[in-house]
Amino acid sequence: MTKRLFIKTYGCQMNVYDSARMADVLAPLGYAAADTPDDADLVILNTCHIREKASEKVFSELGRLRPLKAAKPGFMITVAGCTAQAEGEEIVRRMPFVDVVVGPQAYHRLPELVARASRAAGTALDTDFPVESKFDHLPAASAATEAPSAFLTVQEGCDKFCTFCVVPYTRGAEFSRPVAAIEAEARRLVERGAREITLLGQNVNAFHGRDGSGAEIGLGALIRRLARIDGLERIRYTTSHPRDVDEALIAAHREEPKLMPYLHLPVQAGSDRVLAAMNRGHTAESYRRIVERLRAAQPDLALSSDFIVGFPGESEADFEATLALVREIGFVAAFSFKYSARPGTPAAMMDGQVPEPVKDERLRRLQALLREQTDLFNRACLGRVVPVLLERPGRHPGQLVGRSPWLQPVHVNSGGAIGEVRAVRLARVSANSIAGEVVERAPAGAAA
Ligand code: 5AD
Ligand code: SF4
Repeated sequence: MTKRLFIKTYGCQMNVYDSARMADVLAPLGYAAADTPDDADLVILNTCHIREKASEKVFSELGRLRPLKAAKPGFMITVAGCTAQAEGEEIVRRMPFVDVVVGPQAYHRLPELVARASRAAGTALDTDFPVESKFDHLPAASAATEAPSAFLTVQEGCDKFCTFCVVPYTRGAEFSRPVAAIEAEARRLVERGAREITLLGQNVNAFHGRDGSGAEIGLGALIRRLARIDGLERIRYTTSHPRDVDEALIAAHREEPKLMPYLHLPVQAGSDRVLAAMNRGHTAESYRRIVERLRAAQPDLALSSDFIVGFPGESEADFEATLALVREIGFVAAFSFKYSARPGTPAAMMDGQVPEPVKDERLRRLQALLREQTDLFNRACLGRVVPVLLERPGRHPGQLVGRSPWLQPVHVNSGGAIGEVRAVRLARVSANSIAGEVVERAPAGAAA
């Protein structure tokens, strides 16, 4: 009998990938996708714990699901992801009607957990870091067709212990998948229609997987190997740490045309005092030097970053050092956040917590500057002809939406088909994307 599954995903792209794998692992049990929680027999909340606001969402969502649970016999609720990992017992205590709580490393045990919960009352909880890897147990990505742009997790976890961050506790130690498994998954994705693959990892450039001969290779070498797959036109990776940018990765940017000239390289702050308190392991100056080397290798490279304002002890002068670094480097996109104290992390206990109104004001100033830089970059691109991977239908009939090499959303009103890379002249910046015109009939190459 077909049962219906609804997965709601919060947080990062690794969660998006994990949600797809959870759907795969449940498919053999007869679960097919539902459009809404109301139509579902099983709802999974794949949660994020990175900031307080993100992690509170799970409790309000569970509050909304509760009446559904009461009204529908057999209806099941699973909480997965990083909040499940960090607050599993709290969830069981506060929300005893939840059927399954499963951490990010135990997804492969979902069928068993769901079966166990459907047999007995109470919550089935699994927040172990099992010795076996979930990647060895998850089924190959489903036979369904893939979107033109696909995610592939190659690395997980973090050993860096930035003092603000919960990830080392929720996702565990750094772990790299074997090269053969990644290559096989990439081939399958391409066979099913993917033209672009984004390699994912919390510290993706700390990747060090074993190849067939048992030798360890880094991300730069992995990118070169994947670039040999016919039909794969674009490779991206995220998220990187400045400490792990090595010569091989820089060389890949110089020499591998399938590697897109775009890099998300979080710097977090521009003051060395704050960077040291964050335990980032880099200074503003060492970040500048890495960017210089990358830009020398790939002059077209566009950078994006994450920023935290109001880290404990951040003074006005420290914050201005962040603004100065932003002005100097120039970012085409960015995510910026107010510091959020996370229980169990060293920074939560530090003196000098910054008052909320000060954080608000700094965030406004930083975001205004970042927005200016994004606009400037978009306007500078007008008139250029760039390859766009057409990914999905747009809002108007005949319209298609895709991405430039620099991740700018671009829409075209005619020409081309989903899954094709087309040369597009960028014509006009509109609210959420850039309007362009397809300038040639044949699919364009991947390089600019
Ligand atoms: N408070 C605010 N932002 C945070 N991030 C991580 N932890 C916190 C926190 N405690 C941000 C960082 C990271 C991004 C994924 O989330 O900028 O790069
Ligand atoms: Fe959220 Fe971070 Fe976990 Fe991703 S890794 S789900 S952003 S806490």
